[in-house]
Amino acid sequence: MSRATLSNATNADFPMRLRDVAGQVEARLDALLPKPHGHQSVIFEAARYAALGGGKRLRPFLVVETARMLGGDLNAALDVGCALECLHVYSLVHDDLPCMDDDDLRRGKPTVHRAYDDAIAVLAGDALLTRSFGILGDANLEPAIQVKLITGLAASGGMSGMIGGQVVDITVAEGERDEALITELQAMKTGALIDYAVRAGGYVAGASETELAALSSYARDMGLAFQIQDDILDVTGDAETVGKAVGKDANLGKATFVSILGLDGARKRAKELGERAMNSLEPWDESAQTLRDTVDFVLERKH
Ligand code: IPE
Ligand code: IPE
Ligand code: MG
Ligand code: MG
Ligand code: MG
Repeated sequence: MSRATLSNATNADFPMRLRDVAGQVEARLDALLPKPHGHQSVIFEAARYAALGGGKRLRPFLVVETARMLGGDLNAALDVGCALECLHVYSLVHDDLPCMDDDDLRRGKPTVHRAYDDAIAVLAGDALLTRSFGILGDANLEPAIQVKLITGLAASGGMSGMIGGQVVDITVAEGERDEALITELQAMKTGALIDYAVRAGGYVAGASETELAALSSYARDMGLAFQIQDDILDVTGDAETVGKAVGKDANLGKATFVSILGLDGARKRAKELGERAMNSLEPWDESAQTLRDTVDFVLERKH
């Protein structure tokens, strides 16, 4: 199997860098997800349908770019990023199910349960989740770092992380959703995996505790800004550009930063968080430029 190789150029402009890493993620995921075979062939097809051919690949990008900034092994970082992307895609497949957000469109194509059926979508999500830990276990890393990456992903994707946030999102009544609650739920629902992305890049590169703490505070603020922008696009975006249905949060009666602060207030809050995220990168010079550019990308993104 040919291994993806990542260029070490530092002057590539940001959109090119994002495209470059996304291309590497696509190729590596194609290699890491088995080709359909056997009587269970449909599950390989559905998992590949969900994971390949779309998405911004922001989380693997953050793993790779953080590792690059700190001088880590980029091929190992790419595998860790692919593991995280598989877990993220599983969360999207399940989030779209009729028993959750009941969405028909994801990444510009029919959701997995629309292209296949509900049972296959549940199982494809399960398959991507288990595969993500398999990928981490197979990655070419020191065992002590590998264990941190595995337990870290379990925690960030779990009941105090992404799953916890999803549960708060669907169970807490609208009247109880004040700004503090929404901040807490979004920190779990979206922030935990984004935090994991930069810390994972740090682990791969052997970052110090001080560096990991600065990276985490960068990620927490940037992750929240990212989710605020998701909520803004749900109001201001169009489905074709965003690649998923819009107007869902209001339809489902979900209070978000936009419903609480208004559009301008939400934009202002995202910008403040972006500035705070930038401040957390102060320990680094121009080596952190890509992570700084990522903040601008998150605030300006249209999909
Ligand atoms: C969508 O994530 C779900 C959220 C946590 C907001 P992304 O906006 O990163 O979706 P893809 O991976 O690019 O499709
Ligand atoms: C879900 O949040 C985030 C996940 C953990 C999957 P949303 O429900 O707002 O995500 P979208 O808007 O469907 O991508
Ligand atoms: Mg949801
Ligand atoms: Mg949703
Ligand atoms: Mg949303």
